[in-house]
Amino acid sequence: MWPVLAPVTMRSFFSVTVLALIWPAVIAKDIEPCQRFAEMLLEGRSKTTLENPYNYPAEVLVDAETAYQCATSIPIRNDHVVSVIGRFKKMLSMYSTLGFLKNPPASYQQPPLDVIAYLDSLAEKAKQNQYANFYEYESDLSLMGYQVHDQHFRLRNGGMFKFRWHLPDDIVSVSRDGKELPQVYVYSDIRRDVPSASPIVELEEEPVFSYLSRYAQTKSSIGLLEPHAEWNALMYNPAVEFGTWGSRNGSSVYQSEFRSTSSYNGNSIKGKFANGTGFEWKYMAGSKAIYNLTKVSSGKSIYDNWISSDKKSRIRETRENEEMRKLFSKKTTAFDPVSSVPYPSYPDDPIVVQSNFSRGGTVSGYLLSDNSTGVLSIPSFLAGTYKESPEELHTAVAEFIAKSREAGAKKIVIDLSGNRGSFLFLAYDTFRQFFPKMDPFSLANSRASKNLNTIGSVLSQIAMGSAESLTGPLNRTMAQQLGAGDLGMYGTLSRESKPWKSWEELFGPVTVNGDNYTNPWRYDFNSSRIIGQLKFNMTGYEDNHRDYEQAFDPKDIILLHDGHCGSACFIFSNLMKNIAGVKSVSVGGMPVNGPMQGVAGTRGCQVRQSTAIAKISLMIKLVLSDTKNRSAEAVRSNLGVTREEIESLPLPGGSPWRDVSAGINTLNCIPRSDPQIPYQFLYEASNCRLFYTMDMVRDVTHLWKAAAAVAGGYTSACVPGSVEGPGSKPNKPLYASPGISYADVWRNGDWSKLPRDEPIENNGGFCSTSRVGGSVRVAAAIFAFAWLL
Ligand SMILES: *[C@@H]1O[C@H](CO)[C@@H](O)[C@H](O)[C@H]1NC(C)=O
Ligand SMILES: *[C@@H]1O[C@H](CO)[C@@H](O)[C@H](O)[C@H]1NC(C)=O
Ligand SMILES: *[C@@H]1O[C@H](CO)[C@@H](O)[C@H](O)[C@H]1NC(C)=O
Ligand SMILES: *[C@@H]1O[C@H](CO)[C@@H](O)[C@H](O)[C@H]1NC(C)=O
Ligand SMILES: *[C@@H]1O[C@H](CO)[C@@H](O)[C@H](O)[C@H]1NC(C)=O
Ligand SMILES: *[C@@H]1O[C@H](CO)[C@@H](O)[C@H](O)[C@H]1NC(C)=O
Ligand SMILES: *[C@@H]1O[C@H](CO)[C@@H](O)[C@H](O)[C@H]1NC(C)=O
Ligand SMILES: *[C@@H]1O[C@H](CO)[C@@H](O)[C@H](O)[C@H]1NC(C)=O
Ligand SMILES: *[C@@H]1O[C@H](CO)[C@@H](O)[C@H](O)[C@H]1NC(C)=O
Ligand SMILES: *[C@@H]1O[C@H](CO)[C@@H](O)[C@H](O)[C@H]1NC(C)=O
Repeated sequence: MWPVLAPVTMRSFFSVTVLALIWPAVIAKDIEPCQRFAEMLLEGRSKTTLENPYNYPAEVLVDAETAYQCATSIPIRNDHVVSVIGRFKKMLSMYSTLGFLKNPPASYQQPPLDVIAYLDSLAEKAKQNQYANFYEYESDLSLMGYQVHDQHFRLRNGGMFKFRWHLPDDIVSVSRDGKELPQVYVYSDIRRDVPSASPIVELEEEPVFSYLSRYAQTKSSIGLLEPHAEWNALMYNPAVEFGTWGSRNGSSVYQSEFRSTSSYNGNSIKGKFANGTGFEWKYMAGSKAIYNLTKVSSGKSIYDNWISSDKKSRIRETRENEEMRKLFSKKTTAFDPVSSVPYPSYPDDPIVVQSNFSRGGTVSGYLLSDNSTGVLSIPSFLAGTYKESPEELHTAVAEFIAKSREAGAKKIVIDLSGNRGSFLFLAYDTFRQFFPKMDPFSLANSRASKNLNTIGSVLSQIAMGSAESLTGPLNRTMAQQLGAGDLGMYGTLSRESKPWKSWEELFGPVTVNGDNYTNPWRYDFNSSRIIGQLKFNMTGYEDNHRDYEQAFDPKDIILLHDGHCGSACFIFSNLMKNIAGVKSVSVGGMPVNGPMQGVAGTRGCQVRQSTAIAKISLMIKLVLSDTKNRSAEAVRSNLGVTREEIESLPLPGGSPWRDVSAGINTLNCIPRSDPQIPYQFLYEASNCRLFYTMDMVRDVTHLWKAAAAVAGGYTSACVPGSVEGPGSKPNKPLYASPGISYADVWRNGDWSKLPRDEPIENNGGFCSTSRVGGSVRVAAAIFAFAWLL
């Protein structure tokens, strides 16, 4: 484990609380909640120690209710909501799944959602002045964020000042013997192997299952493709921590969806164990420690300083932020990144670790069972975010393949638990390392919007050299870099692997399910642009086409999924399954038998930030503006775009709030077979599903061995009804209903059918275990910029 220290211990929290209780009473009764909050935060911050350099920016924990009162006292201007929603709608014109979300096929497990209509309804509410504060509006927006069930989707309002509410412990859902339906336990009970650990049967006087299902749908900040995956996301999962820990530089953080919420859920949760004992867990609010809140006197001052884009009203905080950053970075201490595997439940004898492992690098490899089983853990395809480079991940995979082959491993488990993707070319490259002679064929298309046509047309033409006279920011090299794939034709080939004659040929559009899409295309890995982005030549391409040997047979490899897998992880899993025929096992899910889809994060193939699209739009606008030497009209007509088309691009600026932006999935991955329905909406069960057992929570090698057994053909441990489930055969995704609707799955997971080892006695009073003393992990949590309030 990391040598983490709690920024605010329970004791200092109390002293802060005590201060807050005594002091305001002396000053005035009407002290603003945000001022009180700021005082607590400043007080907590002064006591913060940061042992771990990745605990950055650190969170300070303060009283849950004060934070809530502060959050709901941040004002909002309803006319600004209307304007921001208009901007979101413009950004979303390139969101590739708009049409299918509105009208999904029967194979989709979640309810339909009309994103535009939802946003319109928010704007309508704002027009009627119905938003009383910023929190109310962001809650509505965050609910929609959940309902798109797509990890690539994020709408941000730039309210940099955010809160999350944390519980002192995590929960896990485990089966006693792998056969019985799983029950919900306190993570620390299982982790510490408490002999008489008793499952939670009630939360807030409601059966635990129904409480958690409602919670998932109203309090989670991320939605996934199916309820089993959403259930898993509520639980503690070291692999997710592993995958995000590697990138712990402010950009990413892991907190299970139950332990931590951005939607206020009261000051505590009360519950009951099967043995009759009651408990109460207190929420604490976490907030970034880096802000200098000395001048915060009210919700309005937070709005003026951290949300509004109006510079006049803002106090100088940028420089102060910088000072805080410096202050905190001084407290960091160096540590040796590869001396151990610092994650709970992972073995400490890896045969391979990625360079800079645990401070950017995430891939590790292991040998089990007298070397008969090799395990490659890839909790992320992260590259280039911090210290890691794509090449280091590539090298770790190559080393693993060589070492496990040398050791005579018969079965290979590729553990993709917690893998939410990242660098997509690494997904293709990892596939090629296992199967160097197979073509990494994968088709994609985009929503054929007007804006995409403008951007794609301009970038393609410049990239392909038909507007060579252009110089300045948008020269040929730049256009090639920006316009490969989702924003242009450079580096792409047709479904038949032929080069495109023109952008028009690629653009189409093709109408499917009432919306327009480009023609499907694939990457051309022989294109130096694509390889240039990788910074090394992909296995088997360009000057890297020496004769690689395939080390393992597809039938000896098994993929392990826990429902989080998405994005680049989807691309990799899809190639392994549909090109090579590798099988997969999924683990976890709700207490109900039957199949599970292991790849349920997002099956979108590329995410773009609207800020990046705005920058490209601006470049296009600038390059097509009049200059001393030439008339813009001439260049525009040469490129075939009009002034109106340029002006309607999602250009930056003009927002009433700072940092209003969207994360948008711009590419659908689609199967080779028609009809062209994105994989996102098709059903693909794993070949087998396992329940987590207590052993697996304590020691992940139990899980790996169970997965390896399935690769060996032993399916007896699989959950009833989960072997070779619907859509599990290569290239045969299910287009029809799998017979398990969203509502059914939640409903069928009937808590009353769960096994009981102990009778539920009458509750002998609550033992108020406000386990905040053990809240080291929570306290050491850092804040994710990406999360909505
Ligand atoms: C009941 O179970 C909980 C959870 O495992 C445990 O903390 C508590 O001590 C148990 N109570 C009794 C009376 O055994
Ligand atoms: C985080 O990353 C940025 C750039 O990627 C770097 O400048 C900064 O020093 C890093 N911070 C820490 C605490 O490592
Ligand atoms: C915070 O802001 C106040 C007032 O602007 C200033 O006096 C103080 O030095 C700042 N503190 C830090 C740590 O930057
Ligand atoms: C680790 O990161 C550092 C800093 O970015 C880099 O120079 C180095 O090559 C990386 N790899 C190793 C093995 O240290
Ligand atoms: C397993 O492989 C390692 C490395 O190749 C080797 O040192 C070790 O002796 C092998 N163990 C067994 C039991 O074969
Ligand atoms: C193209 O533009 C980029 C960025 O402005 C610049 O770095 C590069 O040198 C330019 N290349 C050519 C060939 O002009
Ligand atoms: C789809 O494209 C056709 C032809 O360009 C156009 O007439 C139609 O309005 C488009 N539909 C949508 C939903 O954009
Ligand atoms: C890439 O180039 C190699 C060798 O030149 C060729 O065999 C292969 O078909 C090309 N791949 C694609 C997708 O064009
Ligand atoms: C990749 O291949 C190209 C063409 O064969 C070569 O020019 C380039 O140096 C190679 N790049 C790397 C990083 O090896
Ligand atoms: C404009 O003309 C000057 C001098 O002829 C030349 O150096 C420059 O590159 C030209 N700029 C553009 C945008 O064509």
